[in-house]
Amino acid sequence: MSELPDWQIEIDGAIGRWQTDIDEALTLEALRSLEVRALGKQGEIPGLMKRIPQIPPQDRKAFGQAVNALQTQAAAAIETRRDVLVEALIATELNDTSFDPTQSLAPLRRGHTHPLSTVQADIEEIFHSMGFHVLDYPEIESEFDNFEALNIPGWHPAREMQDTFWLDNGHLLRTHTSPGQVRAMHEFQAPFRAIFPGKVFRYEATDASHEHTFHQVEGLMIDRKVTVGHLLDSMRTLLSAILQREVEIRLRPGYFPFVEPGFELDIRCQVCAGKGCSACKRRGWLELLPCGLVHPNVLRAGGLDPEEWQGWAFGLGLSRLVMMRYGVPDVRLLMGGDLRFLSQF
Ligand code: DAH
Repeated sequence: MSELPDWQIEIDGAIGRWQTDIDEALTLEALRSLEVRALGKQGEIPGLMKRIPQIPPQDRKAFGQAVNALQTQAAAAIETRRDVLVEALIATELNDTSFDPTQSLAPLRRGHTHPLSTVQADIEEIFHSMGFHVLDYPEIESEFDNFEALNIPGWHPAREMQDTFWLDNGHLLRTHTSPGQVRAMHEFQAPFRAIFPGKVFRYEATDASHEHTFHQVEGLMIDRKVTVGHLLDSMRTLLSAILQREVEIRLRPGYFPFVEPGFELDIRCQVCAGKGCSACKRRGWLELLPCGLVHPNVLRAGGLDPEEWQGWAFGLGLSRLVMMRYGVPDVRLLMGGDLRFLSQF
C-alpha cells in the first residue's frame, strides 16, 4: 500500500481539529470567531489553496478536492453547532423565572385635549366647512401691524384700551388677533375669507374675568359686496353650531377704530333663556363678540381699494366662549396648568 502524502495527512488532521474546536464552542460569539478563523476570507482553510504550487502536479487535483471537502465539512459542523447553541439559549430564556409573560403594565395615564383646543378645533371645523382658510399668525408683532395698520395711530385713545407688553427691540406681544387682517389681505388675493385663532397678551392686572394671556379667534371676509346681514347670518350659524342649539343674537353699536360701523354682538342668555338671571346680570342678553364692517383705512393698509372691496370682521373671545360652554367661573383656570381642573374635561 502506498503511503499517504504529507498534505493528505495534514488535511485529515485538520478535519479532526476543527471538528473538536467547533463542538467545544460554548457561545454563539465563540462559534462566530471560530467560523471567521476557519472559513473567513483570510481564514485557514481557504488559505490552504495558496499551497498548490508546492504540491506535486499529479496530486494537485486531489489536493484541491480535499481542501473543498474540508471546507464543506467545517461549514456543516458550524451550522450544526449553531443550532444546538440557539436551542440552548431559548431554553435558558424560557426557564428564566424573572421573566413573567403574564405581567401587565401599570395603567397608563392618558392625556386629552385642553378645553381651549377642543373649542378652537370645533370653530375651525365650522369655518372650514364655510370655505374659510384657517391661518396662524405671529404672536410677536410690530407696533405698525398691531396698531397703525388697524387705524389706531399713536395718539389714539384706543391704545389705552389695550395695555401692551413691549419688547426690547420695539416690537410687542400682539394685544389682539386683528393684525392678522392686514397680513391676510397681503397674503391672499381678494375675495377670500379666513379665520386666525391664537393667543393674545395684555399687560393688565388679572382677576376672575381678566388674564394677561388669553385666546381669540379673528374672522375676516373680503368680497366686492359685503353686508351686515351676511355678517349676522354667519355669526348665528357659528354660534348655534358651537353651542349646539339655535341661538338668538342681536347687534348694538360699538366702537372699534378698525371697523365702521362697529357692533357688539349679544347672545340670548343660555342660562335663563332671556328671562334675566345672575349670569346675564338680569339683562337676558350676554355680550359675546365685537364685529363690524372693515374700515376703509384698514383695507388700504392691506393693499385693497375700498372703492372695489369691502369686508366684515369679528373678534371672538375664545376664552370667554370656553367658559360659557363648560361653566368655568374664572378665566385664570384656563391657562393655570392645574391638572385637578384640567382632568375634568
Ligand atoms: N381686536 C378687538 C379687541 O381685541 C376685537 C375686535 C373688535 C375685533 C371688532 C374685530 C372687530 O375684528 O371687528 O378688542
